Amino acid sequence: RPVSDGVAACTPTAHRQRLTKVSVIGVGNVGMAIAQTILTRDLADEIALVDALPDKLRGEMLDLQHAAAFLPRTRLGRNVSLFRKIIPALAEHSPEALLLIVSNPVDILTYVAWKLSGFPASRVIGSGTNLDSSRFRFLLAEHLDVNAQDVQAYMVGEHGDSSVAVWSSVSVAGMPALKTLQQSHSSFNEDALEGIRKAVVDSAYEVISLKGYTSWAIGYSVANLVATLLRDQRRIHPVSVLATGFHGIADDHEVFLSLPARLGRGGVLGVAEMELTEEEAKRLRRSAKTLWENCNLLGL
Ligand code: 2OP
Repeated sequence: RPVSDGVAACTPTAHRQRLTKVSVIGVGNVGMAIAQTILTRDLADEIALVDALPDKLRGEMLDLQHAAAFLPRTRLGRNVSLFRKIIPALAEHSPEALLLIVSNPVDILTYVAWKLSGFPASRVIGSGTNLDSSRFRFLLAEHLDVNAQDVQAYMVGEHGDSSVAVWSSVSVAGMPALKTLQQSHSSFNEDALEGIRKAVVDSAYEVISLKGYTSWAIGYSVANLVATLLRDQRRIHPVSVLATGFHGIADDHEVFLSLPARLGRGGVLGVAEMELTEEEAKRLRRSAKTLWENCNLLGL
């Protein structure tokens, strides 16, 4: 330890540093966008890349290692395994790890990871609608001509097509925005709101049709979650969590979908109570039912 005995004796824990390691499973466009964003934001001391294709894996690892001169000092490990073997092996070798699932269909795969790992639900998190919410904030910011960082707004539920926009949560610089919007722009009627929600969903498809996949936004979205988790920031993010019992989701439906959750070094520290309209809650329950039917078929 880089401290003298005298100092260590006076402040026994002051210099104890926790080594943070992030393993990125899958080195496709999304995995690599996540890895490079985590690297440039200097969020981990060690990054491990894992993939079933050894050549692609080695190529990506070398390419990132060659960037070492421009990046914070991080060790890059590597590992090869088949996806189905990964979760139980991870759980066995890293029993204290946080699992952050990004692959689609993310809500279902988060459930799968939870089942296969045997981890408490608080340590299995899906990236969920954290990304949809940032797209939502971006579109609202464009409408309002303000910076997206000043727009607070959540999308919850299933990541993708059936995500639910929580209009009552929209605020700008801390001030509730929906009423003001509706008063100042008569164009902000129900149809317009649904149009914006749909535009959020469609914007992922637009990117996919134009470049074949999405990667940068999910990379930043996941690095943002990693920062909150590893730095114990206790920020609230809409992410895929075990949602049984919330908003009338049946007690026997073990299902993961996104709700605003308080995150820190221990994973999910709590789920924020959120006021939903009856229509929003109904949509959430409908997604939960479909997700549960799909999860149930897996027989895990
Ligand atoms: C995204 O929303 C396709 O789930 C991916 O960018």
